[in-house]
Amino acid sequence: MQICRSTQDMRACTRDWRAAGARVALVPTMGALHDGHLALVARARDWVEAEGGGRVVTSIFVNPTQFGPNEDLDKYPRDEAGDLALLRRAGCDGVFLPTVPDIYRPGAQTHVEVAGLGRMLIGRLRPGHFRGVATVVTKLFNIVGPDAAAFGEKDYQQLTLIRQMVADLDVPVQILPVPTVREADGLAMSSRNARLAPADRAAAPVLNRALDHAQAMVAQGQPLSQVRRQIRDILRLESQAEVQSVDIRDARTLTRIAAPSGSVVILLAVRFGDVLLIDQRVAHP
Ligand code: PAF
Repeated sequence: MQICRSTQDMRACTRDWRAAGARVALVPTMGALHDGHLALVARARDWVEAEGGGRVVTSIFVNPTQFGPNEDLDKYPRDEAGDLALLRRAGCDGVFLPTVPDIYRPGAQTHVEVAGLGRMLIGRLRPGHFRGVATVVTKLFNIVGPDAAAFGEKDYQQLTLIRQMVADLDVPVQILPVPTVREADGLAMSSRNARLAPADRAAAPVLNRALDHAQAMVAQGQPLSQVRRQIRDILRLESQAEVQSVDIRDARTLTRIAAPSGSVVILLAVRFGDVLLIDQRVAHP
């Protein structure tokens, strides 16, 4: 497995692979890898194999520009040795481990912002977050030059926004969506789960229970106002769960809807202590 710690090394590496006829798929991450990330690597691997062979690159970069001033940048879990061991076992071909000054050079003045999708939902709770995500993903695409990139459906708004950005800017990268991987009790895997206090960790699967229930209600054609009310009722059963938002939106555009005309996505943001958990479910009326 090739480890590239600078932009120059990474470019040289993928240039050589491409010159030898390989397709390249990228898995952008912030490290602290778990089975959810390994599912992204597996999807990227399947994609390059289906394309006739190629290489999978994972980037590990805790991106400071997507954290707000009062957010958990310093507390974000970091485990480079553990991550590299997991990626080696998963058969990843290359890892990009840039430094902050390598990605954000002094004097930089340009950023990427997906105006509508970046300011709604989580974008309202975390102003500037998606501008940081869109900017760093654009930079990673420009440095690695992948043909495809895998993103998890758990971060549904992020996935939707990246798709929009790639379409708007004619970025020649195919976006590969990957279903959410869950713990045995239904909690969606996330690097943040490690920061939950034991009582919060025990309570957190309530998100998945609320989503299961809501998905069934949508399938039965129940009014969305009632679905939202019942989600809140279920979440309230766990006293530690501080509900930040419960939204049901058009699954493709994330626009508000009064009643579903096609697939919808149910989006939850719930705080446990100082840890904000998000989860989602696509539902079909
Ligand atoms: O989903 C993440 O881990 C991050 O938002 C990403 C896409 C790697 C950008 O920093």
